Amino acid sequence: MKVLLVGSGAREHALARGLTKSPSLSELHAAPGNPGIAEIGTCHPVRVDDIEGLVDLAQSLRIDLVVVGPEAPLVAGLADQLRKAGIATFGPSAAAAEIEGSKAFAKDVLDAAGVPTARILDVPKAPCVVKADGLASGKGVFICNTEDELAEGLAGARALGDTVVVEEMLTGPEVSVFALCDGSVAVPLASARDFKRIGDGDTGPNTGGMGAYSPVADSGDLATLVAEIHQPVLDELARRGTPFIGCLFAGLMLTPDGPRVLEFNARFGDPETQVIVARLEGDLLAALAAAAAGDLSGVSIGTGADAAVTIVVAGPDYPARSDYTGAAITGIDDAESDGAFVFHGGTAMHDGALVTNGGRILSVTAAGPTVREARETAYTAVAKVAFAGAQHRNDIAGGVE
Ligand code: AMP
Ligand code: GLY
Repeated sequence: MKVLLVGSGAREHALARGLTKSPSLSELHAAPGNPGIAEIGTCHPVRVDDIEGLVDLAQSLRIDLVVVGPEAPLVAGLADQLRKAGIATFGPSAAAAEIEGSKAFAKDVLDAAGVPTARILDVPKAPCVVKADGLASGKGVFICNTEDELAEGLAGARALGDTVVVEEMLTGPEVSVFALCDGSVAVPLASARDFKRIGDGDTGPNTGGMGAYSPVADSGDLATLVAEIHQPVLDELARRGTPFIGCLFAGLMLTPDGPRVLEFNARFGDPETQVIVARLEGDLLAALAAAAAGDLSGVSIGTGADAAVTIVVAGPDYPARSDYTGAAITGIDDAESDGAFVFHGGTAMHDGALVTNGGRILSVTAAGPTVREARETAYTAVAKVAFAGAQHRNDIAGGVE
């Protein structure tokens, strides 16, 4: 099977690695990919927002399955155009991707499906959470503990231009739960916990995610979570005539009253995918192809007993800036010699040398019999990679056994 992977981050590098383990993979292509993916597949210089260019590329390469990583091209209708051209695609239509693209739409679907989520406050009052509708790469959420913070949050959200939603403030640990979906059936993958803030001890601004671990022991039974959270949403989207095909990603808060949905995403998470793929046993490509073909019944994708931890190494001004370019990266082979994997997030080749090119530059990932052992291997490997200005958190999966 010839596969085209759309995207250029560490999530896509991890997926690429997972796909290469499949006996049915004949060719792996990526657009635009990155230097890590280029070691195991062929990268093509087509951007993720060039929908016409991606459809043309998939047709000219006679691709059997397109796997879409990031949300923006999904919300813009990439999967619709690929399917219209007769190309099997793992990734939802624009209509189904609205579950991530619009928080107001997501609330409407969750209410109709009877899935528990934060209550909307008609009258904003601290403590509460202010959210700008639409895709804002994690920057559209304002946690407001005081009336002053609420005033700032409302102004900040309105400045982003879209509709503003105000929710009750929930408390509890968070967990990301992914399910592969074929439009009607949801197959659970593993659970993972993401570390969203830039600084140790969950301080500083939100980021795309600075690290993750899996499994998450306190998240309860995965099959039950997917049956109670993902399946009703999948059923509701199908009922509306917009079935969801792809990875349905629930961001949950485990509150004292039970799990509550914070958000749904229409794609694999980054960096959660790095740890989930590291733990997968079984044929990822077969599962993604079955989902794209609308027939996941009977497919189960196994997760190994090992735990996994990933640590993101970011540029010096991340998350304020995601354009740290040109600093030489060293030590990847050394880091991998002890059994870690270094997934490329924002890298480029310049005059034959690997350099930084983005915000989240590398995802250093390790597996082990326990989260603690995986963390130790991952941090040993992190100490071996280097570039000027590199920053990472020191407390990813800290204290977890
Ligand atoms: P979201 O983009 O909706 O996932 O929000 C980003 C982060 O904001 C989440 O991971 C939570 O840490 C926090 N958050 C969002 N909604 C709430 C809420 N209703 N109560 C408490 N924290 C929230
Ligand atoms: N790590 C969270 C996300 O991918 O949105």
